[in-house]
Amino acid sequence: MKLWAGRFQKETNTLVNDFNASIGFDARLYQQDITGSIAHATMLGEQGIISQEDAAEIINGLKAILADIEAGEVEFSLDNEDIHMNIETILTQRIGDAGKRLHTGRSRNDQVAVDFRLFVKEEIPVIIGQILDLEKVLIRKAEENLTTVMPGYTHLQRAQPTTFAHYMMAYANMLRRDVTRFEDCLERMDECPLGAGALATSTYPVDRERTAQLLGFKKPTDNSLDSVSDRDYAIEFLSACSLLMMHLSRFSEEVILWCSWEFKFVDLDDAYSTGSSIMPQKKNPDVAELVRGKTGRVYGDLVSLLTVMKGLPLAYNKDMQEDKEPVFDAIDTVEMCVPVFAAMLDTLTVRPKNMSKAAAGGFINATDCADYLTKRGMPFREAYMIVGRLVNMCIKSGETLETLTLRDFRAISELFDSDIYEALELKRCVHERKVLGGPSAEDVTRQIGAIKDFVAQHTPEQTEG
Ligand code: ARG
Repeated sequence: MKLWAGRFQKETNTLVNDFNASIGFDARLYQQDITGSIAHATMLGEQGIISQEDAAEIINGLKAILADIEAGEVEFSLDNEDIHMNIETILTQRIGDAGKRLHTGRSRNDQVAVDFRLFVKEEIPVIIGQILDLEKVLIRKAEENLTTVMPGYTHLQRAQPTTFAHYMMAYANMLRRDVTRFEDCLERMDECPLGAGALATSTYPVDRERTAQLLGFKKPTDNSLDSVSDRDYAIEFLSACSLLMMHLSRFSEEVILWCSWEFKFVDLDDAYSTGSSIMPQKKNPDVAELVRGKTGRVYGDLVSLLTVMKGLPLAYNKDMQEDKEPVFDAIDTVEMCVPVFAAMLDTLTVRPKNMSKAAAGGFINATDCADYLTKRGMPFREAYMIVGRLVNMCIKSGETLETLTLRDFRAISELFDSDIYEALELKRCVHERKVLGGPSAEDVTRQIGAIKDFVAQHTPEQTEG
């Protein structure tokens, strides 16, 4: 019999029964549901809304159910619709009347809101920890490659020289923003909706400060209608996940390019690449491709929930039951992608020779050549034109700027002198860029230091259990 059977004269249609049920996926909230119920029962007892004896019986009953679920000894039923009613029904079967008192002053609307918040709150530090581990890999790769010159690209055309370390720190900065986004989300969602009831609280002296405190929230939410209608935190969480995945997808794309024969800037470790079923020579970057592909899936999760919530009137609507699967899916996807990506990156081999060969081939020191003239008094635009003509000359004759003779240089401008060759050396071009944020070993060392400090300061405290 349904918990709500009193008002009904017919059994639920079996199609509706299956359609309505969420136990198939929200069983995943069992722990949070029991934690929320224990806090609620504790408060009910303390406030004298139920007797202390009933409260104690409920709490012991719930703890026993938790242990049994974890031991795999509890079977949930579709007839009890969701995790909330399943657990309440089992409790009542086990302890009788006391179990029937648990739901006093509470609704499934605030119950699910608190369960889901607790769940997301617990996953955020896990994801942050994974991102910080990836940061550590980036730091290591950067430290090993402070002087590994490579071409930087715009429009995927060789543009200016940089280093692999500078590149790694670019991603480290993106990931640092991701961490702070997850932290912001956690900070904003750290309010407890329990006690909001169906939408208008209750007439019992429910102590919301107490349940918020028992559940480890900073404070209770401020408006009960909003409390049971709000899924902003889940959307914010999904958008932080989407941005993180967007970053990983860009990084993946670069890894895919870099390990192609056309680039060969890096080699993936055999353990982190895959073969082809037909082409014996193939070594494929499947991990990077899958991370890139799964990004679309996480965007889908975000758009699903945004769309579910669009135009919903206050307060709870059954539509909102659709909030869980996208969030679970994003969590599973992100928590799988970040560590495997980090491990792939950690084990890849950098090919500095190929990088510097590519850097030498694309006139990426042309800006430096123009800057050379500018530093000798020529206006930049004029210098830019002159170097453009030199590049054009080189292309026609199959040369590079470095292979031109001093006479070639001086034929185009008297300002060139023998020290031009030094000015064109790629290592020098990189390391002269000492401006804050630039690729010089000096500044990249500073950038690495900043990320190291960030990692140390933001490592989530280890929670027990
Ligand atoms: N299973 C529901 C959900 O996940 C719980 C809340 C149900 N509340 C209600 N009034 N039907 O959203």
